[in-house]
Amino acid sequence: MAKPKDKIEDSLYTKVVNLCVRRGMIFPSCDIYAGTGGFFDYGPAGVEIKRRVEASWWNYFVRQREDMAGMEGCIVNPPGVWKASGHVESFNDPLVECSKCKKRFRADHLVEGALKISVDGLPLSKVQELMKQHKIVCPDDKGELSEIKSFNLMFKTHIGAVADETSEAYLRPETAQLIFTDFKTVQMASRKQLPFGIAQVGKSFRNEIAPRNFVFRCREFSQMEIEYFIHPKKLDDCPLFDGVKNVLIGMCTQAMQAKGENDKAEVISIGDAYAKKVIGTRWHAYWLGAVIEWLASVGLRKENLRLRQHTKDELSHYSSETWDVEYKYSWGWKELMGIANRGNFDLSQHSKFSGKDMSLFDEETKEKVIPFVIEPSFGLDRLIFTLLLDAYSERVEKEETRIVLQLDASVAPADVAVFPLMKKDGLAEKADSVAKELRKSFVVIYDEAGSIGKRYARVDEIGVKWAVTIDYDTLEDGTVTIRDRDTSQQERIKLDEIPVRIRKSTRSFG
Ligand code: GAP
Repeated sequence: MAKPKDKIEDSLYTKVVNLCVRRGMIFPSCDIYAGTGGFFDYGPAGVEIKRRVEASWWNYFVRQREDMAGMEGCIVNPPGVWKASGHVESFNDPLVECSKCKKRFRADHLVEGALKISVDGLPLSKVQELMKQHKIVCPDDKGELSEIKSFNLMFKTHIGAVADETSEAYLRPETAQLIFTDFKTVQMASRKQLPFGIAQVGKSFRNEIAPRNFVFRCREFSQMEIEYFIHPKKLDDCPLFDGVKNVLIGMCTQAMQAKGENDKAEVISIGDAYAKKVIGTRWHAYWLGAVIEWLASVGLRKENLRLRQHTKDELSHYSSETWDVEYKYSWGWKELMGIANRGNFDLSQHSKFSGKDMSLFDEETKEKVIPFVIEPSFGLDRLIFTLLLDAYSERVEKEETRIVLQLDASVAPADVAVFPLMKKDGLAEKADSVAKELRKSFVVIYDEAGSIGKRYARVDEIGVKWAVTIDYDTLEDGTVTIRDRDTSQQERIKLDEIPVRIRKSTRSFG
């Protein structure tokens, strides 16, 4: 039997991970103490990319819209929140332990790796049966594996000086629930009427059994989540639908998966998919289109994206319909983010557990309702890693293979790099003053070390689109050489033309 694989062995994946670590973009946290699996830190270029992706998202989905309000909730929350949401009871993964090496694995990952099938949504008894039937053993030393146990993924902590049952608290495993607990306050403060959304960006924590595959599945990560609240009887009444109905995207529906066509992506417009009842409601269809449009705006190639509908077995306890945006990784289609119809599950649960009224008076129908929710939920780290994979390219120059990260300029770690040709003869001083001026409007990298070729290579690798070189002619006539990362073409332009050139390719979101 093939060795079960729950770890990606792929050359593009390895190249991008190596680049991230070597260039200090994203790397294991607390490495000097040998670190802890599943935690990652962001260095200078990584954190700039992260901030820009987040800023683009916030700008697109919050600042540019009249129907959205932002918020930021706490990370440590009392147990009531997570009992109401169902996480204390059922946010579990199936765990098996090797009798020889004592390593722990996710049973579903082992079965999927060994049998090349998806077991999402299968009951644990069925996964156990498959393990026995196919004699699945420890992937590392072929030791016998234990029976499957349920393992709760939440990190527990205590609040205050006494660590007992009364002081228990949890680190949030998703940002979403804080939007539900704060729903009434944010609605009151923003005075939004249905339909409207609340957006939040922040850290989430999951004690993953086997965090693998770099930031794709880690224990501490950032999410960007929207809960969009709609009158329960108006899920098909979406005034924004026309704006996305022509968005074309590959889809893998429940019906296709029932026929075993799990790897396919049939291109269809959002409008047609809704008209053919492939997508259940107009608001859900709208959000699928809006999310695809934004992902494309930060540079992901649409042909590498598809929408996959969750099968009935796979749906979470709170969802009646979920679509994942999947990316065509070189190791297969995998979830990048998800868009669920959560109905009124969460607000109803919080109303029940807290005793507080979570309903809203709808001005239009003059009814008190508990709104329904469509939830676009993005993993920020997973998205950044996907952007890096999508942008990675290699170019052979003077018999050397060079890495060029062709990131969209709007999410690149800097807008422009400024280099003096030499440090002497006043060139460094001039370059420094050009960099200072550009910094008033742009993110700038200044570099005077090594040959110009090496400096170009250094910024190509982290995805900076423009590099400006200050040379002797600059001192004479105020012109510079500007080089484009993607073509490596160089052009002579005037100093005051630099901002225009950068702005042409950058959508800056502050
Ligand atoms: N509020 C719904 C929710 O949290 P989810 O599918 O569990 O849904 C949403 O998570 C997104 O968060 C995922 O699509 C993924 O991008 C990201 N995500 C989830 N678990 C993750 C992990 N362990 N490491 C990195 N990203 C993760």
